[in-house]
Amino acid sequence: MDEILIRGGKRLKGKVSISGAKNAALPILAATLLAEGECRIQNVPQLRDVSTILRLISDLGGKTSEIDPHQVSVDNTQATGHEAPYELVRTMRASCLVLGPLLARRGRARVSLPGGCAIGARPLNLHLKGLQQLGAHIDLDQGYINARASRLKGAHIWLDISTVTGTENLMMAACLAQGESIIENAACEPEIVDLAAALTKMGAKIAGAGTDCIHIQGVSSLSGFTHRIIPDRVETGTFMIAAAITGGEVEIDNCHPEHLSTVTAKLIEAGIEVEEKADSLKVHAHGTLQAVDIKTATYPGFPTDMQAQFMALMTLARGSCMISETIFENRFMHVSELIRLGANIKIEGHTALVTGVPVLKGAPVMATDLRASASLVLAGLAAHGETLISRIYHLDRGYEQIEQKLAALGADIERLA
Ligand code: EPU
Repeated sequence: MDEILIRGGKRLKGKVSISGAKNAALPILAATLLAEGECRIQNVPQLRDVSTILRLISDLGGKTSEIDPHQVSVDNTQATGHEAPYELVRTMRASCLVLGPLLARRGRARVSLPGGCAIGARPLNLHLKGLQQLGAHIDLDQGYINARASRLKGAHIWLDISTVTGTENLMMAACLAQGESIIENAACEPEIVDLAAALTKMGAKIAGAGTDCIHIQGVSSLSGFTHRIIPDRVETGTFMIAAAITGGEVEIDNCHPEHLSTVTAKLIEAGIEVEEKADSLKVHAHGTLQAVDIKTATYPGFPTDMQAQFMALMTLARGSCMISETIFENRFMHVSELIRLGANIKIEGHTALVTGVPVLKGAPVMATDLRASASLVLAGLAAHGETLISRIYHLDRGYEQIEQKLAALGADIERLA
């Protein structure tokens, strides 16, 4: 198993370019299952999760090919498969995104329940309830969701929780349903807007994506399309914090600053200088880092996917702050590892009280999930001495070439195979 070794204390300086968004690429690749004709997806990040969904699409009978390292062609016109097996779904929960498209286009889907997850229970009950409202017959057997429908029918769906992949699954299914669907309390994340843009290019009739009420007028078929994935806002935020935590000066190119307004506001409050341009950001850290409270929320609130990284930064701030996690019930797995690096953090329920320390000191630590891994890399960049991070495969699920990008900014970081 690969490990990452960081010799901390280097000030990051230079330019970094942001890759396509993992959490937009996954639903858009799943949406190709709805189309008749070739779909070309550009700005696709090279990540393990992307390879997993492409493998799933090809196991389901689709033709997939790489046009260039960041562009894939997918054609599902002749494909007939309908099963997403446990071996794949357990490695990536987002495999459940094939459920809505398979049901809508092929009339049936058999998708494994994903099983345990490091950050919370993460049930799929709202995906299933919404699909049932669209007319699907669903039963669970031997750890699988079996769903069937001859043709889905438009419905008025109220989501009890504004779930991101739940909204995406229902949007995709509703596109081929008969009549109008309304999804209320829908997730508003930029990845939903990007999926809606791709579906619209396929011929879908969608209004309101990016608000909490999405209207979809079903159509009888959808066609091939070409779409460029939006930049990854979590990768962008992670590099903003990499600059901040090392006292650096980094220009972050090919990003959408407007997708990070809450993160930017919190960094400015902490004393970091952030300059926004149309598609780039300049982050400059000088002077004292101040402790600031954060509370995660759905978009446009502070993203749960940035909580661990922001906590790493706050371990070195002046004063104490409260970091509250409201989206997932168990997303503090990085805390005990940050403490191994010398951080002062106490957890009470869903809140972590972080009191800044003057320095972190390198130590061996273990990554437990994707964003927790990123927080350990960030802490390692700032820590004195060597930090060895094991179970780094989590990082490869969501960050493209992170050690090369950090090394190009001056970090002393290497992967040990
Ligand atoms: N929930 C339910 N029932 C459902 C669906 C969700 O109770 O049927 C709960 C979840 O357990 C959670 C809350 O609703 O407590 C919100 O979860 P959501 O469904 O929005 O999360 P998700 O769709 O499974 C996506 C991202 C996550 C990101 C969350 C929150 C993708 C592929 N994944 O997950 O990304 O943290 O939204 O923004 O889009 C990551 O990239 O590291 C990652 C975990």
